Amino acid sequence: MSHIAVAIDGPSGAGKSTLARMTAKHFGFIYVDTGALYRTVGLYVLRSGADPKDADAVTALLPKINVELGYDSEGVQRMYLNGEDVSGDIRLPEVSMAASDVSAIPSVRAFLLDTQRSLAERYDVIMDGRDIGTVVLPNARLKIFLTASAMERARRRFRELREKGVETDFDTVLRDIELRDRNDSSRPIAPLRPAEDAVIVDTTEHGLNESFEIIRDIIEVRR
Ligand code: DC
Repeated sequence: MSHIAVAIDGPSGAGKSTLARMTAKHFGFIYVDTGALYRTVGLYVLRSGADPKDADAVTALLPKINVELGYDSEGVQRMYLNGEDVSGDIRLPEVSMAASDVSAIPSVRAFLLDTQRSLAERYDVIMDGRDIGTVVLPNARLKIFLTASAMERARRRFRELREKGVETDFDTVLRDIELRDRNDSSRPIAPLRPAEDAVIVDTTEHGLNESFEIIRDIIEVRR
């Protein structure tokens, strides 16, 4: 029996991970945060002292990287880099930028493709990322493109970082979001864009629960 796949793509800070997690829990799907895979590669590259924009240097490091995805007893995704749990480290702001840089390198995208597809072959998944509906799972049952204004996304990300005790200021967070938007949308390979058959959901004016209800209702109609 084939599995159900729901793709949620969109820019950083649109609420993809929180909403995908809530939706997965509601429907009993596995939630796959694919950004964490790129973050793990970005972290390894930073630790190696290589430039995340240097395609040749990053490609040469790939054979040394083993990226594994697991779930804890609460069903929360954990990321393992060569056996080490790096779930916390990959959330640091400098790793966000490195992830965005390495994600523009074709060999990195190819390296992570199988991991993503094989999860969708084994489980009912809700997978969030940038190219899930366009490249990774073009036959997904439902594709959602989740977005919000850059200002609103920066507000949310700033709050989230502060709650985690990460020292930062609002302007830096906004600049980082705008830079990553440009990076992720303008790259020649798998750029961030809605699939032709994606449903666009703009959460600028909606709180979390309202956005969840919108997504839940769309999935219920499509099932
Ligand atoms: O979703 P995130 O912010 O954790 O993702 C980190 C970076 O990884 C993001 O800037 C773009 C890249 N990414 C990607 O290119 N494709 C994906 N499917 C997921 C993330």
